Amino acid sequence: MESANTYWADRALLEWQVELGATEAICEAPIDRYDVPAVVEKPKAVAAQTGPSFVAPVKVDAVAVAERAAAGAQTLDELRAAVSAFEHCDLKKGARSLVFSDGIPGAKVMIVGEAPGKEEDRAGKPFVGRAGQMLDKMLAAIGMGRDRADAPVYITNVLPWRPPQNRDPKPDEIAMMQPFLLRHIALVKPEVLVVVGNWSCQALLGKRGITRLRGEWTQAAGLPALPMFHPAYLLRSPEFKREAWADLLSLKAKLRDG
Ligand code: URA
Repeated sequence: MESANTYWADRALLEWQVELGATEAICEAPIDRYDVPAVVEKPKAVAAQTGPSFVAPVKVDAVAVAERAAAGAQTLDELRAAVSAFEHCDLKKGARSLVFSDGIPGAKVMIVGEAPGKEEDRAGKPFVGRAGQMLDKMLAAIGMGRDRADAPVYITNVLPWRPPQNRDPKPDEIAMMQPFLLRHIALVKPEVLVVVGNWSCQALLGKRGITRLRGEWTQAAGLPALPMFHPAYLLRSPEFKREAWADLLSLKAKLRDG
């Protein structure tokens, strides 16, 4: 009686599996999957991982590394070397050159831009493309220039490597390059900073919103700082050149009156 029951039950089970699409039995001998061993062995892989050859990945604090490297630089050349040796910013991998600075160290005005573009990446110098030509014209309008010994400026960027496709800087990129920027400012010792564009404001003032911030003197890195529209923005929106002119005059007055 019992064996007949088992036969029909087993047959029904098989038919059901055939209906589900099973076309063959994959093992020669049947496996009783309900026969679980009483003691389950620990997976060997876990033991192997704790062995001497396993090296756990160490999470590097890139900001702390940058702070130490920046603090160790006593000259601009040493700072350039420290930035060049910094391996934690992925932008470095995709860039052709390190874009460190241009202009005359010791200038009263230090201009902080955002990041190199294609031309800057090629040339290894900040602000040499169309936006750079615009910046040079703006400075010339108030009698200043990066090559003018009588009224020089010094120029750098928040990021020394070009972001791919000129995308916006990421917060972690700004954070890890900021110690180098602050050390850069401390070594150049300008009287004032001109902070151009939103991302430079983010790095130095901790906020964006250039339309509201521009033209208002504030403090950054312990110095008077003037946020201004980015020259690339002025190329796209020339109607804001009037505000930029007002800001340039404000810069000139600050240098004259202190
Ligand atoms: N824009 C920037 O902010 N910096 C450059 O060097 C070039 C374009």
